[in-house]
Amino acid sequence: MTTPQAAERPFEDDRPSDHSGRRPGRLLRVSDLTPQELSGVLALAAEMKADPLGWQHSCRGAALGCIFEKPSTRTRVSLTVAAYRLGMTTVPLDTREMQLGHGETWADTARVLSTYLDAITLRTFEHRTVQELADTATVPVVNALSNDHHPCQSLADLLALTEHFGRTQGLRAAFVGDARSNTCTSFLEACAAAGMHLTIASPPGYEMAPDVLAGARRTMEHTGGSVTFTPEPHDAVRDTDAVYAEVWVPMDRPDEEEDRRRRFADYRVDTALLDRAGPDAVALHCLPANRGEEITSEVLDGPHSLAWRQAANRLPTAQSVLHTLLNTSR
Ligand code: CP
Repeated sequence: MTTPQAAERPFEDDRPSDHSGRRPGRLLRVSDLTPQELSGVLALAAEMKADPLGWQHSCRGAALGCIFEKPSTRTRVSLTVAAYRLGMTTVPLDTREMQLGHGETWADTARVLSTYLDAITLRTFEHRTVQELADTATVPVVNALSNDHHPCQSLADLLALTEHFGRTQGLRAAFVGDARSNTCTSFLEACAAAGMHLTIASPPGYEMAPDVLAGARRTMEHTGGSVTFTPEPHDAVRDTDAVYAEVWVPMDRPDEEEDRRRRFADYRVDTALLDRAGPDAVALHCLPANRGEEITSEVLDGPHSLAWRQAANRLPTAQSVLHTLLNTSR
């Protein structure tokens, strides 16, 4: 995680430090973790899943501020329960009831909240908002989803794959949907760190951001992973171990609903598509699902679905992230 111990960090760390000179950890995107740090967070999550209350005194007395500007079921509840299992209290914050609604900046808000709270989690729209919060906060910040990144989801995805296959290194996965989506971006960064081979099937016009792709490929040079692209879902899934279905119309694009339903109509993960993957391939979905749209109920509820395990793993991975960030920053 982005802590002073992250010696291999390739860029200058200009974040504010507290009076002790330590810098707060952050998880704004998966690539905030080195592959080694990611592996450590997942290993701890597995331990926490086996012994959920084994760390209940580790962050006793600490407070997590929870700001959700978009709806959330999994992320909100998993972070709240994770904090509780670490002995923390949570402080739900509504931006409409804060001075943010009257023009106070995220930076000034972060500076003040850092004197009350021990960590902050934010679900928001523009990624630069959570970036601004984290750049000024002197406590750890966790991105609970922005338009560009969804790191908490990808950690749960990797834990589910690890549990199912016993490894992630060398696994072959296909992502079927919008390559620019936060889920795809974070899953790519996760695959890069884990040394996985990812093929992304996206319609023309929904290509991955070049800087994200370049960063992932740099990581893959060290981990042995790879990423390729095709507009054809049937080509993407061939001989893969896992097929990831993605919603066609994300929360931040309601105005594009009609256009996206038309463009993504061939990007549905159904039994016929999953049958073209490997015989033991699993289906992934971050949920909530639009049944019959990007994924059929037959696949989602079928024997090859890992979606429910992905969702369950949001809790131990959130617990591991909070524990790691607080104990490397405090
Ligand atoms: N997958 C996910 O982030 O779910 P929520 O939107 O319910 O938090």
